[in-house]
Amino acid sequence: MKNQLVMSMLSAAVAIGTVTSAQAEDVEVLHWWTSGGEAAALNVLKDDLASQGIGWQDMPVAGGGGGNAMTVLRARVTSGNPPTAVQMLGFDIQDWAAEDVVANLNSVADAEGWNTVVPNALQNFAKYDGKWVSAPVNVHSTNWIWANKKLLDEVGAKQPTNWDELIETLDKLKAAGYIPLAHGGQAWQDATIFDGVVLTTGGIDFYRKAMVDLDPEALGSDTMVKVFDRMSQLRGYVDKNFPGRDWNLASAMVIEDKAGMQIMGDWAKGEFLKAGKKPNEDFLCFRMPGTQGMVTFNSDQFVMFDVGDSDAQKAMAKAIMSPEFQSAFNVVKGSVPARTDVPNDAFDACGKKGMADLAEANKSNTLVGSMAHGHAAPAAVKNAVYDVVTNHFNGGMDSKQATKALVAAVQDAQ
Ligand code: GAL
Repeated sequence: MKNQLVMSMLSAAVAIGTVTSAQAEDVEVLHWWTSGGEAAALNVLKDDLASQGIGWQDMPVAGGGGGNAMTVLRARVTSGNPPTAVQMLGFDIQDWAAEDVVANLNSVADAEGWNTVVPNALQNFAKYDGKWVSAPVNVHSTNWIWANKKLLDEVGAKQPTNWDELIETLDKLKAAGYIPLAHGGQAWQDATIFDGVVLTTGGIDFYRKAMVDLDPEALGSDTMVKVFDRMSQLRGYVDKNFPGRDWNLASAMVIEDKAGMQIMGDWAKGEFLKAGKKPNEDFLCFRMPGTQGMVTFNSDQFVMFDVGDSDAQKAMAKAIMSPEFQSAFNVVKGSVPARTDVPNDAFDACGKKGMADLAEANKSNTLVGSMAHGHAAPAAVKNAVYDVVTNHFNGGMDSKQATKALVAAVQDAQ
């Protein structure tokens, strides 16, 4: 691999006619940002590094939510060939850090003052045993809805603020012949909806008990049965071609006036922006009705693997955490900055709302980790929840059976 790298650097240098001395190192980056909006955001990072003379070896692994990327990562590390940096979520970071295969970023973190500007909710994942192992690039959240404004106006629906109003709006869209809910039938997408439905049905304390504390009583409660009932209700508003559809294709259905709305994390905004759509003119962003003031967050972080002492790796970590980069990147990505001191000037209305919601939720203790995106429980539990939620969503069991199965699956996974 090293030889290949040297060869390709040499041939690139020869191709442009200059074999310069001291070529800056490359970084090899494993990630799952392959949709149009995601790739546009990634380019902000690539360009930033390129301006510092750092080359980029791309290692994309398609698959929203990162499940496939994590499988590829395992193979790379097992064969003794880890990438320089890896996009990662929450508990996975801690799991990899425990395997002692990641770099120590404390020198960069100390010099740049990360301890004072990164919210504790993110530090809890980015640090292991007192050492920084990753650079948080953003904060996303999952309890959002992305709606087509023209279609909502056309069917005479206003922005729903509670569950009943949501159902009313979906009914109006259906009656007018539109696909009410754009959705892709993949386990992680079903689980993303589940985050919001748990939150709106049970409230913040219930979410915490069930999804974070994994309390069997909460998991097996009547409230959970109601959550599953509501999942079935939503299932009634998706089109028949939903199985297997990628999330960005579901976003495209809303963008192209085919579907009324999508329940999805704020990475969906990246797709709307990429298509030239404007918030509040073409599309609306609002919290899953009934979850205003609460935030189920996830943060993409770049975990730096132990590849020996690497200046390029440190430069990448430093670049990611610079306030200018955090603004430029997150404006495109749909997420909000991973540090608390970044001005909101460059952000659109949805981004400003995202930043304000996060700050408010953090203050009022209504900020919780997303189960679907690895910030509520470790991967084994998350995958167990995925299985039950997706099986139920596809009609494999009724709500009572699903509730029982959830309790058992979560227990077995711990
Ligand atoms: C999430 C990730 C986002 C976005 C999304 C869909 O897990 O945090 O950045 O990429 O998956 O791919």
